[in-house]
Amino acid sequence: MERSVVYVIPIRSILYKLGLPFFGLLLMLFLVTGCEQGEAGTGVQTGGQVGTPQMEKAAPAVDGRFTADEGESPESRRIVLGFSQLGSESDWRRANSLSIQEAAAEADIELLFENAEQSQEKQFEAIRSFIRHKVDVIAIAPVVQSGWEPILLEIQQAGIPVLIMDRMVEIGDPSLYVTFIGSDFEEEGRKAGKYVLDKLRNVPGPVAVAELRGTEGSTPSIGRGLGFREEVKAREDLHIVLSEQANFTYEEGKAAMKSFLEQKGREIRVLFAHNDDMALGAIEAIENFGLRPGKDIYIVSVDGTRKAFEKMVEGKINSVVECNPLLGPILMQAVKELMAGRTLPKRIVTPESVYTEVTAEREVANRKY
Ligand code: AHR
Repeated sequence: MERSVVYVIPIRSILYKLGLPFFGLLLMLFLVTGCEQGEAGTGVQTGGQVGTPQMEKAAPAVDGRFTADEGESPESRRIVLGFSQLGSESDWRRANSLSIQEAAAEADIELLFENAEQSQEKQFEAIRSFIRHKVDVIAIAPVVQSGWEPILLEIQQAGIPVLIMDRMVEIGDPSLYVTFIGSDFEEEGRKAGKYVLDKLRNVPGPVAVAELRGTEGSTPSIGRGLGFREEVKAREDLHIVLSEQANFTYEEGKAAMKSFLEQKGREIRVLFAHNDDMALGAIEAIENFGLRPGKDIYIVSVDGTRKAFEKMVEGKINSVVECNPLLGPILMQAVKELMAGRTLPKRIVTPESVYTEVTAEREVANRKY
């Protein structure tokens, strides 16, 4: 599953500007040694040998980028990262974008940041612009899982390594990306399901559950839905009676919950919201309907934003499964490791916790997003 990547940069023009031909020789000697770096402790969770970019001599040059032949390593100049963000639909996403921008500045990585506002087509356009810019690395947070193979092939043909972040892509050829950094969404769904079973262990059935799903075809929505179902099937008198896609947004969550209540009213005992924004919107709808969120309807959601913690402290959300958006530092570290020729694991999973109304109070002040 390893792939080779060739980086080309016009070393001669840099040396001309410096006016130091002998410095160029020294630099080349230094870089030849630098190119021989092998696997190293990455500091990120390590795994198999995958996605290692290898400097190849005598490979076809791509204008404006670096080849080992020409002697300059990416370490001697600013790394350029093109990042295609999928949108700004939630507090999680906004925290994620900020984390990436701040971490890039901190790591002295030049960041080309494009927000696709939920359009896969716009993600493709952004990626093609990164290819034209001859960036060193492309990172993608894909809006949905399907449809990525052709564009990933274009990137591979341009010799640019790809990091997938947050959500995953559904592809047949794993060599099209180096690593996937993000949460285990099925596990998040299982954690939510476990909490529901535990909370209702002394409550007689039948138990009617309503579900607010995220963006159709996106990894977190698919994974959380699957994991939750896998867990709650242990209780035969629990049924998901209503399930609607609300795109991870406050407004759609509120509208869908209003419609759930109009259909089933007090019958609904549990709400599983695939993210906090939808849960917060649903709380407003439940209160407007005259019911008490967290009491008449138990609520479990995913993310762990400060706003959701505040609602937990008020007893209006019963549990939140954490999904960490602060992926900027780990992404920048991965970019640097990659550009230094080191091996990255194919999967980097972010560690996450579960919080409840009991533990929320002491945690709320620590929330960073
Ligand atoms: O992909 C992560 C999910 O996307 C978060 O749970 C959600 O809030 C966001 O919009």
